[in-house]
Parts: sequence; C-alpha cells; structure tokens
Amino acid sequence: MRIGVLGAGGFIGSNMVEFLLDQGEHEVVGVDIAYDKIAHLLDRPGFTFTLANVHRDVARTDEIIRDVDVVIDLVAYANPSVYVTAPLEVFRVNFMANLEVVESCIRHGRRLIQYSTAEVYGKPQEGQERYSEDESDLVYGPVHKQRWIYACGKQLLERVIHAHGMAGELDYTIIRPFNFVGPRADYLVPAGTRGGPRVFAHFMSALISGGPMFLVNGGQARRSFTHIADANEALDVVLKDQRTRGQAYNIGNPGNDISIADLAVQMKEIYAELTGETPQNELQVVTGDEFYGEGYEDNGRVVPDISKLGALGWKPTRDLTTTLRDAMQFYLEHPEEAQSPDLVQRRQELANAPAGPEQVPAGR
Ligand code: UGA
Repeated sequence: MRIGVLGAGGFIGSNMVEFLLDQGEHEVVGVDIAYDKIAHLLDRPGFTFTLANVHRDVARTDEIIRDVDVVIDLVAYANPSVYVTAPLEVFRVNFMANLEVVESCIRHGRRLIQYSTAEVYGKPQEGQERYSEDESDLVYGPVHKQRWIYACGKQLLERVIHAHGMAGELDYTIIRPFNFVGPRADYLVPAGTRGGPRVFAHFMSALISGGPMFLVNGGQARRSFTHIADANEALDVVLKDQRTRGQAYNIGNPGNDISIADLAVQMKEIYAELTGETPQNELQVVTGDEFYGEGYEDNGRVVPDISKLGALGWKPTRDLTTTLRDAMQFYLEHPEEAQSPDLVQRRQELANAPAGPEQVPAGR
C-alpha cells in the first residue's frame, strides 16, 4: 500500500512511520513542518518525506494525496496549553487544515484515516463508566473556557467526515486515541515549567531535572494510558480490515486507567528502578488556571469501551508499567531527543516563508 502520513514528524507519526516501514509491505510518504523525530528514518527504503505546512502548501499536499492509496491525517495541536493560549491557531490547524485534507481525499477518491481524539467525548456524565463510539454523548463546557475549541473542532470535523461518508463521497475511518505514550512522546521542559507538553513529558522532565511534579487540581483526573505499540497494532487492523470503513474507533487501554496523582507516584517508582536513584521531587498541587492560564477546564475522562475494534481482533497487551517504562527508558537513553520545539512559532515561520515546501534530501 502507498500510505500518505500527514503529520509524520510528530510523536504518533514518528512511531507509526517506523512501524509501517518495519512491516516491509508499504511505501510511506510523510509530510510535516519538522522532522527531528524522524531524522533516523529519512534514509529508509520506501520512505519519502516533504517538509511542508499542510495548511499553507495546499497544492503540494493535494498532489501528495492524489498519489497515495490511503491518507492518514495526524495534523493537529494536541497539547491543552496551546488550546488555552492560541485557540484560533488550534481551530485553523485542527479544523480548517484538516477540512482541506478531507476535500482533497474526496476529489481524488482516496481513503482517509482521520486521527481525532478521546477528548471529543468531553465531560463524562453522571454514572457514565465508559465512552462508547456510537452511543455516548459529547458534552462540553462554556465558550469562555476556550480549551473546548479543540474538542469542538475535532467533533465538527468528525461530523463533516461522517456526512461526506453518508453522501457516498468519502471512504473514511475515524480513530479516537486515548493518551498514547511511547518513545518521543512530546518533549522535555526545564524544571518548574507550566503549560507546554502533556503530562507524561512533564513528569519525565521533572524526574530528570529534579523540579516539582505539578498536580493540576490535585491530580484527581484519570487517564487510560496506551502503549504506542498497541496503538500501531490497532492501526494495522484499521488499514487491513474492510469492515472499519465508515466507522469510528476508540484506541485506548482501559486496563491502564490511573489518576494523575497515582501516575506521578508510579513514574517516580519506575524512575528509581531504571536509574538506581530515588527521586526527591515535590508533588505540588496547582489550579488549572495557574498551570495553563485562564480558560482551562479539565475534560474529565472515563475509560474507553474498546469492544468495537476488539471484535475485529485487536487487543492492547502492554500493561501500565511496561507502557511507562518503555517511554521513560527512551528519554533516559536519548537525552538528545529532549528538544523543546515551539510548534506554533515553527508553523508561523513556515507560513511567512516565501518559497513552497522544502524537500528534505535523504540523510539530510
Ligand atoms: C490531551 C489532548 O487534549 C487529547 O486530545 C489527547 O487525546 C490526549 O492528550 C492524549 O494524550 O491522547 P489530556 O489527556 O487532557 O488531553 O492531556 P494531558 O496534558 O496529558 O493532561 C492529562 C491530565 O494531567 C489533565 O488532568 C491535566 O490537567 C493533568 N496534568 C498535566 C497535570 O496534573 N500535571 C502536568 O504537569 C500536566
């Protein structure tokens, strides 16, 4: 299969491209605004990469979509701190840019696998135990809590995709990821940083730097962390099983459900086991506004119902300790991967650059 991966340079994309190339049966065409996380893959046979901004280089992206069999769209900001500080940028990239991708897939009759988010479900309702793809309601907070622009934009994108599917114009599958963790997850930040990456990278940064581990609103929120290798295996089913067409799937691991406060403790224990040093990090409780700025509201979270993709033969097999340990070990062994990119700035630089997409030569 010739697979176009839009957003190939991010955390999920870098692991996905490696997984697809390792299978030895696909040609992969990657596009992104940065390639730090896939520098080790640029020389691999079967992989070509274009440095381009999907939103700006629409014509180039359209050509890439025309020339592949399947498009996997990962283009998005996924860090809540960006939803709070740059909501319009989130709308432009996560909705507008992706809408162009949808339209291009329709024009060229290409299959689209759209990565959405667990966050489309919004706030769990009283008594709700699981999020089910085809039954759960999607419930958001007030407009002045701008964090919700992300979930709302993703939800609208899903609805547009579904409507095109109903009209017989688009062959699609929607994936809702639940807190994937693995090598190259986000990026590390200096001690005491607030906002920035997601919780795994924050806690890992604190463990390495010795800074505080911040527990937003006491760390009572829960998440079901999912090993990136389990997520890749789920994608494999979606790619190959025709029954996934026109459907949405949760990809998560209900067995790895944990509160953020307990996650901090567990990561401390694993860090001690991996390094032989007992971490002394202080666990510091902060409010959402203190950590992210005004306009944050936690999106709660209950565990995913994964029986729908389970019925097609997929099952996550990595427990929480393995999931965390593999990702933590990567950062301990690859400190050079610990850059802290400002992706908003990078997108703006590319948007202001006079030329079209840059081609990245193999091996750079
Ligand atoms: C984010 C995205 O918004 C989702 O779309 C995506 O599905 C998800 O990441 C993911 O990784 O799959 P969220 O889970 O809220 O959603 O992202 P995190 O920033 O990792 O936050 C998880 C929880 O930890 C939140 O309750 C947050 O307030 C808390 N947190 C975060 C801390 O307590 N301390 C920190 O240092 C960082």
